[in-house]
Order: sequence, then C-alpha cells, then structure tokens
Amino acid sequence: MKLLVTGGAGFIGSNFIFYMRKEHPEDLIICLDSLTYAGNLSTLASVMDQPNFKFVKASITDRRAVYRLFEEEQPDIVVNFAAESHVDRSIENPEVFLETNIIGTAVLMDACRIYGIRRFHQVSTDEVYGDLPLDRPDRFFTEQTPLHTSSPYSSSKAGADLLALAYHRTYGLPVTISRCSNNYGPYQFPEKLIPLMIINALHNKPLPVYGKGENVRDWLYVEDHCKAIDRILQHGRVGEVYNIGGHNEMRNIDIVKLICNALGKPESLITYVTDRKGHDMRYAIDPSKIHSELGWLPETRFQDGIGRTIRWYLENQDWWKTIISGEYQNYYEKMYGGRSSAAPLTSDMKGKEE
Ligand code: NAD
Ligand code: TYD
Repeated sequence: MKLLVTGGAGFIGSNFIFYMRKEHPEDLIICLDSLTYAGNLSTLASVMDQPNFKFVKASITDRRAVYRLFEEEQPDIVVNFAAESHVDRSIENPEVFLETNIIGTAVLMDACRIYGIRRFHQVSTDEVYGDLPLDRPDRFFTEQTPLHTSSPYSSSKAGADLLALAYHRTYGLPVTISRCSNNYGPYQFPEKLIPLMIINALHNKPLPVYGKGENVRDWLYVEDHCKAIDRILQHGRVGEVYNIGGHNEMRNIDIVKLICNALGKPESLITYVTDRKGHDMRYAIDPSKIHSELGWLPETRFQDGIGRTIRWYLENQDWWKTIISGEYQNYYEKMYGGRSSAAPLTSDMKGKEE
C-alpha cells in the first residue's frame, strides 16, 4: 500500500508516520509538507533514510506540484493532516487558514479524482461543532451535532469537511472524515497549551492562562488518535464521519497546575491573561460510533500520557530549543506581550468579581 501523508512534519502527522512504520512496515509512505513554521524536518530524522519513506516539500495549495506528485507516485491512500492549526493565529490572520485548510483540501481531492484513489481521509477536529455549555455535563458532540463554528480556524476546517462530503456525493470520491478532540504528546509545537506551559515552567516564566482557566478540553494521547485513523482506513465506511475522543475532560487551569506540580514549580507562576476572542467553553466527544463500529477505544490513561509527554519535553530539549530560539520569539511577543494580566479569578471567587 502506498500512503500519501500530508502535513507529516507536524505534530500529529509525524506521530502517525511513526505509528504506521511500526504497525505496517511494508507500506510505502510519502510525506508531503510545505514546512511552515509548524513543520519540522528534524522530527522525521529517524525515518528519513528508510527505503520505504520519501519526503516531498510542497504546498497542498500548489495544484501543479500536487498533480505531478500524484502522477509520479500514484498513491493508494491520502491522509490529509496538512493545515494551519492554531486558533490564536487564525484570529490574527484568517486568510492562510482559508487557503491551506479549504483550497488545499480541494486541490488534494481534485488530484484524487483525476488520478484515482482508494481512500481520501480528512483529519478534522471536534472544534467544527462549536462549544458546549459548562453547566450541561450530560451533553456531548455526536456525528449528528450541527456544525457551529467559533473561530476562523474551526470555520475553515468545517468548510473542508463539507467539501469532502460534497466530493463524495457528487463525484463518488471515497472519503472518510475523523473529528478528534485535543491531542497531546511528543513533537507538539510549543504554541499549544501543554508544551507552552511545560517550556515556560522550565524557564520559570509566567504561565499565561486565558480568562479564568475554566474552559474544558477533552484530551487524547496522540498515539490513540493515530490508532483510530488506522482503524478508519482499514474498516471505516466511505462517506462517514467518525468522532474520536476518550471522555477525558479537563479544565485548563487543572492541566496547568498539574504541570507545575509535575515539574516542581510554584503555582504562583500562573498568570491570568486577557481571554481569547470567541473562546470556546467546552469540548466533549461522544465516541460511541467509532467504538461500536470499529472497536476503537483510547488506550493511554491521562496520568500516563501526560507523564510521558512531560518526560519527552525534558529529554528532548534540543528539539524545542531550536524552535523557540527562532521566529517563535516574535510570535510570543506579539501574542502575549499585549495581553494584560488580570488578577487570578477562580470559580469560587465568582460573584465577588461582579
Ligand atoms: P501542526 O500545526 O503541528 O502541523 C501541521 C503541518 O502541516 C506542519 O508540518 C505544516 O508544515 C504542514 N502544512 C501547513 N500548511 C501546509 C500546506 N499548505 N501544504 C503542506 N503542508 C502544510 O498541526 P497538528 O496539530 O499536527 O494537526 C494536524 C491536523 O489534525 C490538522 O488538520 C488539525 O486541524 C487536526 N487536528 C489537530 C488536533 C490537535 O489537538 N492538535 C486535534 C484535532 C484535529
Ligand atoms: P490550544 O492548545 O490552543 O488548543 P485549542 O484552542 O485548539 O483547544 O488551547 C487549549 C486551551 O488552552 C484553550 O482553551 C485555550 C487555552 N490556552 C491558554 O489558556 N493559554 C495559552 O497560552 C494557550 C496557548 C491556550
């Protein structure tokens, strides 16, 4: 089987490549990545020289380059991880999100139509469903939940999902879509909550918690996400959407405190800063469809996964030090320099503040 993995130099894509190398060593993998700020070729160093792995640097929006690649390689399966993935960046500059996440996905699917494909898998997100209220812990996102996006990022992902379903219905393209909750694990770019807090804490820098830190995310260890995609590729029904998540809801503030404790750092590093615009309150996945149809369940408990992740960042400082010594500094200054810090507010202080 020949797989084209787009965005494979990023967080989840690289973990997926490692997972597939391990589980299906006979497969040939081609990684297509334009190496944006979030793509890192050093991440792929361990597979780069393997005979059944190939890296191609190009953008999924570059129709000519994508068609040439399909013509030369004739992949059987395409798994599309390539995307602009950070909500805060999408609030600053939506355009590149529309180009990569929507147009890029369309270009890939056009190539699939022209050159033929056994499966096009679109890696999507639970953020397409919008958010859930904190006071309704009984409610979860199912595949039937209406799309109701909040950020330019999630809107662009929802646009791509709708296009993928339209290509299935109109052209008969064999498409599957997965919508996963927040991932954590090795090789996550340090703009995202967990690695950012680990790295700041290691430097005894303030830990910038948006708003009151009460927003809830449903965290999944990245390898469990990779396993789920593999299951969908093998046994998923074409034209279907599968939600992926493991009922592991946590408040941001609790994650940040856990990281402080694990690293032996004082919670006084926590700094409450101006909230994200349009900040989604709670994400929570109902994974019963993928469980009952494909037998998938998450295998990594949060306590184990977060411990493994913190250790990874401690043991792989070269990987992230290279990142944070470059353009990242400008990003950090732009995103956090202007955010005023607020006095810590917790739910038990609610009411006193109003
Ligand atoms: P990431 O930002 O770490 O990596 C994205 C990769 O895509 C990078 O290697 C980047 O260079 C590449 N890329 C960006 N634009 C490109 C283009 N035009 N052409 C080719 N390559 C391009 O992202 P991630 O966290 O690994 O997310 C991967 C996918 O999973 C995304 O589609 C995202 O929406 C989805 N997702 C992420 C999460 C999460 O928690 N991180 C959860 C659910 C779904
Ligand atoms: P993030 O990792 O950006 O993922 P997403 O927004 O896609 O869920 O953020 C996770 C949560 O952490 C989200 O509620 C925003 C919050 N957050 C902070 O409080 N401070 C930060 O510095 C960052 C990056 C995120």
